[in-house]
Amino acid sequence: MKKNIGSYNAAFPTPIVVVGAMVNGKPNWFEVAWVGIGDASIITLSVTPTHETCKGINEHKVLSISLTDDIMLQRADYVGIVSGSKVDKSKVFPWTKGELGAPIPDEAPVTMECELLDTYTDNGMHLLICKVVNTFVKEEFLDDKQKVDYSKLKPILFEPRFQYLRTGEVVGSCIQPGKAYAESLK
Ligand SMILES: Cc1cc2nc3c(=O)[nH]c(=O)nc-3n(C[C@H](O)[C@H](O)[C@H](O)COP(=O)(O)O)c2cc1C
Repeated sequence: MKKNIGSYNAAFPTPIVVVGAMVNGKPNWFEVAWVGIGDASIITLSVTPTHETCKGINEHKVLSISLTDDIMLQRADYVGIVSGSKVDKSKVFPWTKGELGAPIPDEAPVTMECELLDTYTDNGMHLLICKVVNTFVKEEFLDDKQKVDYSKLKPILFEPRFQYLRTGEVVGSCIQPGKAYAESLK
């Protein structure tokens, strides 16, 4: 038996990310869980537009989006529970300026430096359409083809009962299970 629980977006878990932008000449960071993938270079973030970091994103049209690992989790959560409008969060993460000018946390395993392409407004929320321009990766998480190896990185994920998860083990290569099933139909 299945129960219809109504309109409930169940497309989770998502990666939990730390988003950074320059606000009044200093970095400000906040945590975002409502993250979506567009195409190979497009990421969407669903944000409350009154957040302090959004001021910097809207002013400069540039932001950083960082995956989070165990090292960052405590501080990632912290920047998600206090606002830069009340507390100076600029020193929470040591950082370096990216090529577009976005703050890049030194400790983040992967940071995508993005341009804000567009904003879609729905029900008071802003969906930020972001284009990835530069991707900074700790070399230990790159494979020999210069791709991110998620079996090593294990980014922290989010599910909407407000819990953090970690990715698990590799269960198979794409295409192979489908081919095996096709064989079984012959
Ligand atoms: C687990 C978690 C997930 C969050 N996800 C989002 C999100 O997807 N979008 C958003 O706008 N705020 C989200 N927040 C809230 C902001 O991170 C939080 O309000 C933050 O303090 C805003 O900081 P700022 O005002 O300095 O920009 C989340 C907070 C937590 C703890």
